[in-house]
Amino acid sequence: MSEQEIIARATDVTRKYTMGKETVWALNGVSLDIYRGEYLSIMGPSGSGKSTFFNMIGALDFPTTGKIEFMNADLFSLPEEQQAWIRCNKIGYIFQTFNLVTVMTAVENVALPSILRGDAPEEAAEHARKVLELVGLGHRLNHLPLQLSGGQQQRVAIARALVNAPSVILADEPTGNLDSKTGLEIIELLRRLQLEQNVTIITATHDARMISVSDRVVWIRDGKLERVALRSELNVQVGGITS
Ligand SMILES: Nc1ncnc2c1ncn2[C@@H]1O[C@H](COP(=O)(O)OP(=O)(O)OP(=O)(O)O)[C@@H](O)[C@H]1O
Ligand SMILES: [Mg+2]
Repeated sequence: MSEQEIIARATDVTRKYTMGKETVWALNGVSLDIYRGEYLSIMGPSGSGKSTFFNMIGALDFPTTGKIEFMNADLFSLPEEQQAWIRCNKIGYIFQTFNLVTVMTAVENVALPSILRGDAPEEAAEHARKVLELVGLGHRLNHLPLQLSGGQQQRVAIARALVNAPSVILADEPTGNLDSKTGLEIIELLRRLQLEQNVTIITATHDARMISVSDRVVWIRDGKLERVALRSELNVQVGGITS
């Protein structure tokens, strides 16, 4: 592992939230190297700090103390425009609740990040169609989110996360709102995309099946790293999933 390229590094990261008189240390000194092209799953009880950690790696929230490096740059000392550029071009986001624009079709949702970065609309739509085909939705291009199943909506969200060819995909509980079979399909899709596109996948999850496709698993508890393990160190059944 040590010879692999580090794509993101957290060093002694803390995050304090203050609400009135109450203080919560959502992260309490987290250090972690994340390698290019790996599939990393972050597990831990509700409230342990998974999403908070995600938001730091994804440049959506900043640490109270400590440092986040992304592709060798100190993320939060970069000017805001450069942080925005990284968010738009280097990171794809997938959420538990899909977060699609309800009045836009699948193609329009997927084309949106490319249009926002200035690509011509026609070109963006053409590329969006290709990415939707890649995630198995070539036959639902013009459906609105409400005309799609949950699993299909999550595929649209995955296509949208992929469309600008990011280095890292952050998937926060991507199977949390899906039934068991559909969740497994999404896990298999993320694994296939990681292997085919060499994209780094970081998931926060409660879904134990995610372990079977992960290269490494990290457990967080009370804002601290409790354990980091390679898949080879875990006794997991890879039933049905390409490992
Ligand atoms: N914006 C905020 N303001 C105040 N407290 C917050 C905020 N965001 C998170 N917290 C607190 O920080 C802690 C960690 O929250 P976080 O969302 O990271 O947990 P999580 O591990 O993602 O949980 P879950 O599995 O339920 O999604 C929790 O105690 C939460 O209440
Ligand atoms: Mg969370």
